[in-house]
Amino acid sequence: MEPEIHKSTPQFSPEALEKTEEIFKRYPPEHREAALLPILHLAQREFGGWLAPETIDYVAGFMKLAPIRVYEVASFYTMYNLKKVGRYHVQVCTNISCWLCDSNAIVATLERKLKIKIGQTSEDQRFTLAEVECLGACVNAPMLQINDDYHENLTPEKVVGIVDQLP
Ligand code: FES
Repeated sequence: MEPEIHKSTPQFSPEALEKTEEIFKRYPPEHREAALLPILHLAQREFGGWLAPETIDYVAGFMKLAPIRVYEVASFYTMYNLKKVGRYHVQVCTNISCWLCDSNAIVATLERKLKIKIGQTSEDQRFTLAEVECLGACVNAPMLQINDDYHENLTPEKVVGIVDQLP
């Protein structure tokens, strides 16, 4: 008997399903599980920018994995959001290179400007502010990422300008 599909059960769109086929082709069939990271990325984009428990369960079923395997991966990497995030997900790197180049001032400027602390989302759901480990742009520290875009060689003034320019 087919499992009952509840209305709230997430389902990949036909376009996303096509992308999953492309992703699976990158890995040997016996290592299908290795596709979990990009499939989770796809799911996050597809289902509102975060991985709700029902999304994780859906991905587990889709990948034919025990849900705990998917939860383990999703909770390990900061690029997976386990809580709903604002329209702009502002991730500030505070790792060693950025910290030496005063990422503390960048964080303080953002907290003042957005009126939220690290880990919080603004009341209007516009901004989520997060602290992350090295994003691989150390040579241009300090830096931050807003959604898919990197902003590098920051100063507090530049940060204010970047936020003010967001539509
Ligand atoms: S330490 Fe910030 S990007 Fe590497």
